[in-house]
Amino acid sequence: MTSRAVQYARYGGPEVLELVEREDPQPGPGQVRLAVRAASVNPADWKLRTGAFTPGAEAPEHPVVPGFDVAGTVDALGEGVTAFGVGDEVLGAASGGAQAEKALADVTALVAKPAALSWEVAGSLATIVATAYRVLERLALSPGQVLLVHGASGGVGVVAAQVALARGITVIGTASERHQDDVRALGATPVVYGDGLVDRVREVTDRVDAVFDAAGKGSLADLVALAGSPDRVITIAHPDAADHGVAFSSGGSVEGSLAEFVGQLEAGTFRAPEVVVYPLEQVAQAQEDNRTGAVSGKLVVTP
Ligand SMILES: NC(=O)c1ccc[n+]([C@@H]2O[C@H](COP(=O)([O-])OP(=O)(O)OC[C@H]3O[C@@H](n4cnc5c(N)ncnc54)[C@H](OP(=O)(O)O)[C@@H]3O)[C@@H](O)[C@H]2O)c1
Repeated sequence: MTSRAVQYARYGGPEVLELVEREDPQPGPGQVRLAVRAASVNPADWKLRTGAFTPGAEAPEHPVVPGFDVAGTVDALGEGVTAFGVGDEVLGAASGGAQAEKALADVTALVAKPAALSWEVAGSLATIVATAYRVLERLALSPGQVLLVHGASGGVGVVAAQVALARGITVIGTASERHQDDVRALGATPVVYGDGLVDRVREVTDRVDAVFDAAGKGSLADLVALAGSPDRVITIAHPDAADHGVAFSSGGSVEGSLAEFVGQLEAGTFRAPEVVVYPLEQVAQAQEDNRTGAVSGKLVVTP
């Protein structure tokens, strides 16, 4: 059987993306194949596509099918899989590309999709949730401490702010002018990012115990000044991390965090970032809109 997938065979701009018909991928041991219902777009998709990698990461083998986060229906089982059966509705992290009609995933990277969760939201969660929980774990703050989430209006930031608040941590969240109300609605204190950030943050709090840089933009020196020391700052994206002695966090798995976050969504305690949906044919536009910031929210493609 064949199905459609987005792929690129060389580094470049959105023009290198093509929609191809390919043989369905076959699940290996411990994997399932999914009939994809939704797959999200992350900044990593266009960064990898242009050849810009996370420090220390290996270059991908071409052709590359982009996309990490997926939601879909199990349509084939690899050897030894008992956790899920054909027809099960799941979400999580794909192995080897999600922006396609069929995708593979390790069963350990999947959780059951609650019926009330839309396919589009389900397909947008794995990366932002795993990243937010991983960094919060490493920052190890206690209730009553103050966390600055830089980029609290973004995918990772929205999750990080909510999880931290639920743990009794006070959250100051940076965002653009247009997203101040969104950050406030999460329960965090919003501050506009950009020049003068240090003074604006100090107007709303006299202490910052740690900074989660979930934006990777703006002045890392400002974030270090606010935290008081580089070892109280963790970035997931800032290219200047090493120059400032700031730890860069990447990698990790969805195990534990995704099930917990989905449970909180079901319970109505947390809310997911807004999703904006594109058909798979418009994946180049979706990646460009994410790169330029022209469209806010989690961008999702549906086959
Ligand atoms: N290392 C890892 O494991 C890992 C995992 C996931 C993501 N990342 C990286 O983390 C970053 C955020 O990912 P995401 O999916 O959350 O992206 P996103 O949804 O596009 O969010 C980007 C955030 O950055 C803010 N921002 C935009 N321009 C800014 C500026 N000049 N100064 C300060 N903040 C600015 C945005 O605020 P407004 O929208 O209000 O402008 C928004 O809050 C990306 O660079 C991504 O590649 C890394």
